[in-house]
Amino acid sequence: MPIALAKIAVFVLCLLPALLLAGQMLLGDPGPDPVEHIVHETGAWTLRLLLLTLAVTPLRRLAGWNALIRFRRMLGLYAFFYASLHFASYLLLDLGAFWRQLLVDIVKRPYITVGFSAWLLLVPLALTSTNAMMRRLGRHWQRLHRLSYAIALLGVLHFLWLVKADLREPLLYAAVFALLMLARWRPRRLNDRS
Ligand code: HEM
Repeated sequence: MPIALAKIAVFVLCLLPALLLAGQMLLGDPGPDPVEHIVHETGAWTLRLLLLTLAVTPLRRLAGWNALIRFRRMLGLYAFFYASLHFASYLLLDLGAFWRQLLVDIVKRPYITVGFSAWLLLVPLALTSTNAMMRRLGRHWQRLHRLSYAIALLGVLHFLWLVKADLREPLLYAAVFALLMLARWRPRRLNDRS
């Protein structure tokens, strides 16, 4: 498949969860607690897309799929898109745009502190994702974008912290994150020796 077509396919696939959620809310059965459902779905897709973005480099190195790099920016920007939807649905739908309560939550509820920090750290990455910014920042760009590992870690911690009973899903994301870190570390060590 030509790369342009593959990019359109990935673009549509990444948008699909948001479209399905909007369809479910507007036309289907919104369920007993629609706000909770929206916050959960957008949060889960943020974390999935963050981990997918981080999987690009190890997959490229291990499987030799060099073309994958052409999708990394789109995946990262989609992670930011879902994180912003998630944040906006919490602030506007859950808290009713009550900013003061948001500030109280950020200070008093550690899982909100961690989630909010992850979202804040995503902002400079999204703003510097253009080719022009890449050229302008030079080697600093790569250093700045290494923040994506810290962001994913904060995302995993946020999820682990907020879950009260069944830890299976957040632990699965934590395991994927650990594997991705390991995959990133190992080829470097092998390269160091050669
Ligand atoms: C990169 C940033 C973030 C990531 C990766 C993330 C991820 C997640 C995930 C995976 C969930 C659980 C979804 C599920 O149950 O399936 C969640 C829930 C939630 N997140 Fe985030 N989140 C982020 C930022 C934020 C921010 C900025 C806020 C608000 C300031 C926030 C507030 C919440 C709330 C209120 C819940 C639901 C808590 C509950 O069930 O009681 N998150 N988030």
